[in-house]
Amino acid sequence: MKHKLIAASVCSAAFVASAQTGLAQAPAAQPAANAGAQAAATEAAMTPAERTLMTHGFMALPGFVKGPFPADAVVGAGYIPGVPRLNVPSLRETDASLGVSYVGGLRKDGGATPLPSGVAMASTWNPELIQRGGAVIGAEAKAKGFNIMLAGGVNLMRDPRNGRTFEYLSEDPLLSGVLGGAAIAGIQSNHMISTVKHFALNGQETGRHFIDSRIGEAAARESDLLAFQIAIERGRPGAVMCAYNKVNGAQSCDNDWLLNRVLKHDWAYQGFVMSDWGAVPSLDSALHGLDQQSGEQLDPAVFFGDQLAASAAKDAAWAARLKDMNRRILNSVYANGLDRDPPVKKPLDKAAGDAATEAAARQGIVLLRNVGDVLPLTAKARKIAVIGGFSANGVLSGGGSSQVQADGGPALTIPTSPAGPLAGFSDETFHRSVPLDAIAAKAAGAEVTYRNGRYLSEAVAAAKSADVAIVFATQWSTEGFDLPDLTLPDGQDALIAAVAKANPHTIVVLETGSAVLMPWLGDTAAVLEAWYPGGRGAQAIASVLFGETNPSGRLPISFPASIEQLPRPKMDGADSVEPNMLGKGAEGQTLSANYDIEGADVGYRWYARQNLKPLFPFGFGLSYTQFRYDDLKLTPTGATVTITNTGQRAGADVAQLYLVSGPNGPARRLAGFQKVDLQPGEKRSVQIAIEPRILAAWRDGFWTLAGGRYRLAIGADALDLGPAAEVTLAARRWK
Ligand code: BGC
Repeated sequence: MKHKLIAASVCSAAFVASAQTGLAQAPAAQPAANAGAQAAATEAAMTPAERTLMTHGFMALPGFVKGPFPADAVVGAGYIPGVPRLNVPSLRETDASLGVSYVGGLRKDGGATPLPSGVAMASTWNPELIQRGGAVIGAEAKAKGFNIMLAGGVNLMRDPRNGRTFEYLSEDPLLSGVLGGAAIAGIQSNHMISTVKHFALNGQETGRHFIDSRIGEAAARESDLLAFQIAIERGRPGAVMCAYNKVNGAQSCDNDWLLNRVLKHDWAYQGFVMSDWGAVPSLDSALHGLDQQSGEQLDPAVFFGDQLAASAAKDAAWAARLKDMNRRILNSVYANGLDRDPPVKKPLDKAAGDAATEAAARQGIVLLRNVGDVLPLTAKARKIAVIGGFSANGVLSGGGSSQVQADGGPALTIPTSPAGPLAGFSDETFHRSVPLDAIAAKAAGAEVTYRNGRYLSEAVAAAKSADVAIVFATQWSTEGFDLPDLTLPDGQDALIAAVAKANPHTIVVLETGSAVLMPWLGDTAAVLEAWYPGGRGAQAIASVLFGETNPSGRLPISFPASIEQLPRPKMDGADSVEPNMLGKGAEGQTLSANYDIEGADVGYRWYARQNLKPLFPFGFGLSYTQFRYDDLKLTPTGATVTITNTGQRAGADVAQLYLVSGPNGPARRLAGFQKVDLQPGEKRSVQIAIEPRILAAWRDGFWTLAGGRYRLAIGADALDLGPAAEVTLAARRWK
């Protein structure tokens, strides 16, 4: 019992010296409110050598670790040793926002619950459901021995071709912030830390290690930074992960303005900043606000170990910085109870996981088209032809570090790059949830046939002989690589076009990570956007097709009518950067993205500003029932509106409140939203809070609200605006 804790009855946060070692010892664990004091006391008790234990960590993958694999490390994204003498636990990190990542099956403890992709979960517009998903994946991470989840991806979707669009939530700062905060709160309800990431303006994967995101301060504060700010306020994440890219000239993890000024000073963030894996350029990043170097094997050197200790030993400014780094890390450890409630390895609660992922998938599916009410399917569909999309094998998932697999691993794995050490990272994989089986299970008495869609002639023949053709189409995307365009690959556009011409009752089910173009749209009867629907995706798709679930998903991203509508029709670096997720660029190679083109007008705001009509607008989604809006009333802080379900089925609507004009002119900004369940004929008065920063502008270091009249409207989506009302607001400024 050499390192026994000595009860500190004198002062809860004080340390007493150990008779055996002469070193200060840790006091009893503190409630979260005392986290700051406990962190300060623990830091004060650290030896100089202990002070750089938690400031750097490594990728916890067998074969990648120098020396023996630590006894308490868990195979996953990262490991940071603790300070056992002071009862500070090691930090065991797993990816990511969609569940406990599978790391290619290297961790031999089975699978985990794959949630639907981020964009799918955001399509629910339902913070409670997302919080529940977070709570479930956090519990699973803990049951596998982790205490940090590298989750909370809230980067705005500035370009639908971004390969990580599927991991993120939306193109809107309010929606992303609210939903991201809910996910983080859910994860952290398990006494663990969640990150929010990737801070900031990490808008594309092409040249991700060296691209410079250029944007004016006001535009940044009103868009991507606002999403982070709201997510941090609501979710209180223990850590912020800075990004790979540069922001206005300095790398995100080495960016004094971003980390010290915006995050720590202006937002008074008390947690710690961890780097992305391989994103630290030098020791000086510590002075620029970085608190922890992650995945250090991928950086040019272990800057935050001996180098940091040496600087702190001879320079008071460095010593002070090191003290702050430790206090911040410890503050998050104590505030989230990592010391009080350590992970205990145990079997996962699979029933809870299945229920949460299926609930999210059902609410995240977006009905984009339904001509002649072909959906929901009825008993009149005696013969159903299911075609394509590997729908006899599973449902698609996105690639990269966020990849989750259930027990047994993927149902199907398709290589997408040449063989090599990183090849597995970019495998296209499908979950073991089979649409063909789920459809057959619900289509009682109907004949269900399957064609893989590789030959048009065969697919067309099957479609012709069926009452209904359901074509599954996939667009796979992954971390590390962007989509070259928004077509459906492998001839799937031609397949859908041919089948739709052959059968007027053709239903397209899309499993995509992002928006796609739909040249065949006019010939189809129905289109369901199912995204990457997660581990119970097929069951969710079937339940929508057969009307057991009334679709209530709404697009969190605009679908362009053409690539030319995007702010950057040619993605920066598309023709100059060799696709390579680790590539730092050729010697001297530079790349920048001009985000001032759209500024804060990301997505639907851009379409509104340019007067462009997208294929499907942000917020769009059909239902098997209809809703009507009446009696919109505004106060300075919120709106009330009466919503009536005027149809024959129970369903959920998402009332979206948009700013349409203010003293500074016309605008289109989502100022609030509320999802509501309504029985047929039911009418409900719904309250929607207005986020004041959405009405304001960032000017000279303040949120600045111009005095005057503001017009807001309730929209079924960002284009289809219903009743509007006005409210007069007094001018004000705030931080
Ligand atoms: C990704 C992060 C991830 C980290 C650890 C990076 O490549 O950008 O999102 O958390 O790896 O796996």
